Amino acid sequence: MAEAQGNIDSKDFGLGIPQNNQGYYLKGSAHLEWGMKDRLARVFSPATGKTVMLAFDHGYIMGPTSGLERMDLTIVPLLAHADCLMCTRGALRQIVPPTFTKPISLRFSAGSTVLTELNDECVMDIEEAVRLNASMLAVMVGVGSKHEALTVRNLTATVDAGSRHGIPVLGVTAVGKELVRDARYLAMASRVCAENGAHVVKTYYCDEGFEKVAATCPVPIVIAGGKKLPELDALKMARNAIDQGACGVDMGRNIFQADNPIAMIQAVKAVVHDNESAEKGLELYNTLKNEKE
Ligand code: 5RP
Repeated sequence: MAEAQGNIDSKDFGLGIPQNNQGYYLKGSAHLEWGMKDRLARVFSPATGKTVMLAFDHGYIMGPTSGLERMDLTIVPLLAHADCLMCTRGALRQIVPPTFTKPISLRFSAGSTVLTELNDECVMDIEEAVRLNASMLAVMVGVGSKHEALTVRNLTATVDAGSRHGIPVLGVTAVGKELVRDARYLAMASRVCAENGAHVVKTYYCDEGFEKVAATCPVPIVIAGGKKLPELDALKMARNAIDQGACGVDMGRNIFQADNPIAMIQAVKAVVHDNESAEKGLELYNTLKNEKE
């Protein structure tokens, strides 16, 4: 118990040594509050500044997507290899053990499905995100879509609610059927998310001009994988995105639809965190895949 008397006199004042004013390693995040920074540091490795998020929230708009029919069988074995999970509250409660201590990027907006018109969404209660111990809140933003204003309002409302609890927000740039995924559009959609308060932006990689998308987005960008590609192509996309300024991937189908998802997530990590080339990543993929067979 602390005593008022008889304590050793204080003596280590570090006189002459300026106090270390710690900076912060993620772009656009230096002025955030401690709780926000702590949560972002769970998502983005402080050692590399990067992340490999495993996205398996597809069911909320697509139903039982290939590879996600039985998430208890296909996703649970991948959990140990992911830096962060991007999922719905349903999937979180149903298949993710509460003893899993890595960060959760919680799908926070929902509404329509692929059967109607995407982006007609609302957002959840912030109390639910706090109950679920979310480290980040993911909100769809449909710039240029019919529901643009609604989705931007969803984003700003989530940023307001998240700020009250120190929870950062991931703006997810939705791409509708009618919108072109070129650098001009992706840069605009990403910037709209950041300007409206998103702490991290998720967008797509594009072959021409992605470095401009990343450069003009003042917060970290992670890329979605999109539709399933041959493994080497998916690894090349990750490599190119990182080289051109992305801070990681939030990848789903190119991991859980791979021939060997456990090998694939490790190959993606080697590219993202260890700076391996896509070809080295593929070598690792094949080695791990053959070990398992
Ligand atoms: C769905 C999403 C997905 O999480 C996102 O598309 C990532 O998955 P994939 O790599 O399969 O594209 O945001 O709304």
